Amino acid sequence: MKMAFRLKSDVRLAGSWLCLRGARALGTRAVTASKASVLPFEVIPQHQGNKRQRVLQFWKEQNHDDLHLEMHQTFQELGPIFRCDVGSTRIVAVMLPEDCARLHQAESPYPHRMHLEPWMAYREHRRQNLGVFLLNGPEWLSNRRWLNPNVLSPKAVQNLLPMVDTVARDFSEALKQKVLQSAQGSLTMDMQPDIHKYTVEVSNFALFGERLGLFGCNPSSQSLKFIHALEAVFKTTTQLMFLPRSLSRWMRSQAWKEHFEAWDYISEYAENRIQKKYEELARGCSQYNSIVANLMLQGNLPLRAMKANIMDLVAGSVDTTALPLMMTLFELARNPTVQQALRQESMATEPNIYENPQRLRMELPLLWAAIKETLRMYPVGLFLERFLTSPLVLQNYHIPAGTLVHLNLYSMGRNPEVFLSPEHYNPQRWLENKETYKHLAFGFGVRQCIGRRLAEVEMLLFLHHKSGAALGAGAKHSGP
Ligand code: HEM
Repeated sequence: MKMAFRLKSDVRLAGSWLCLRGARALGTRAVTASKASVLPFEVIPQHQGNKRQRVLQFWKEQNHDDLHLEMHQTFQELGPIFRCDVGSTRIVAVMLPEDCARLHQAESPYPHRMHLEPWMAYREHRRQNLGVFLLNGPEWLSNRRWLNPNVLSPKAVQNLLPMVDTVARDFSEALKQKVLQSAQGSLTMDMQPDIHKYTVEVSNFALFGERLGLFGCNPSSQSLKFIHALEAVFKTTTQLMFLPRSLSRWMRSQAWKEHFEAWDYISEYAENRIQKKYEELARGCSQYNSIVANLMLQGNLPLRAMKANIMDLVAGSVDTTALPLMMTLFELARNPTVQQALRQESMATEPNIYENPQRLRMELPLLWAAIKETLRMYPVGLFLERFLTSPLVLQNYHIPAGTLVHLNLYSMGRNPEVFLSPEHYNPQRWLENKETYKHLAFGFGVRQCIGRRLAEVEMLLFLHHKSGAALGAGAKHSGP
């Protein structure tokens, strides 16, 4: 039984505003900053071009897929810190782990990120609450405090583990059936749509305790519409996010219409699921410990706030995990030795490793390292961002409050001063490497990704079940 995964050099998943495209080798010239007296902001190397030009450039170019390469190039030319202005926003870009450490140490109790304009516009226009993704300040913190125990805590993820495992096993089984049904017992397929379905299925089960049946032959039209709406949100977000609302309102009116319609569908979907769960709990017949069920039982989060956060969790949980899964398969197909080692590791595990997420990581150290390695080379988000509420020194420059700091994950991951031979896919490096502030794909501090533990088990179980089954039979690299 042979499988060959055809992966295009364009690995960008449909519509993800976070994704990279065609990542390729680029070295980086790191400059060691003088530790002498602190230098003023104005002497930070500046990215060329004036503010207005840059806004216009974003406006003209529909395709921002090479933004990470442009930024990487700029680091090579200017060193590990530079500044630029986009519209009225003053941005400082950095890319070294030590700068992340400084940002983290200086963080306020309410780390501040800029909001995603199109998502914000929707919530404002429809007079809906904001969830943690868009909130800032004390309201953000109180929402996180309600959500963390039910989404991020080890106990929450332990509750969700059996549900994720069921979906991962079903996916692996559906894939095996596809291979068996194919004429020659071998299959060349584009995995992207299937992986996308896997992430939607996991997310829906974990959040609402309901299966969508996406691996079957006839998924319901409601499920397909839901997937379509998610895709439309991401596609239009990329089209709208780089422009001020005043410009895009008349330039991209069709994209705005599509964006709002897609969110309307997701909003209605979330509301119906929450209502259904409420009725099930009232009748005492809720089967699964889903996130929504637990939030309701906890009873702290007002209904409107719950819906807003569930919409954020739905949107945050789909394309994000699909990209690293795709790219791990891509790298494994190119690196048969790593693939073989992972397969052996997976086959040697005990059947009861699903007891808790930490155990899962401990029993599958190489697989866990492979996921970290994928996220290093292909980070889902190009950069982490923090809006400074107090001044800070980075690379020996004074950064005033009110500056937006971008920590560029792609450039850090490809920097030979941070990672030896950064173009080489080498999961092993994470087994030896104990240094902090290098694995930053999920962010850092109290504002780190709330879905990270769920995403970790989702990726581990997917790859584990595939390693022990279909993938182990010999994934082949047939592109790019
Ligand atoms: C491989 C998968 C994922 C990656 C790489 C990822 C990455 C990130 C990053 C970098 C942030 C910003 C963190 C920061 O500013 O320090 C973030 C925030 C967030 N993520 Fe994820 N994420 C993933 C999966 C998920 C999943 C599965 C969910 C939902 C279950 C989710 C929901 C969110 C939400 C709601 C936020 C906003 C949190 C806040 O601002 O308080 N993410 N994610």
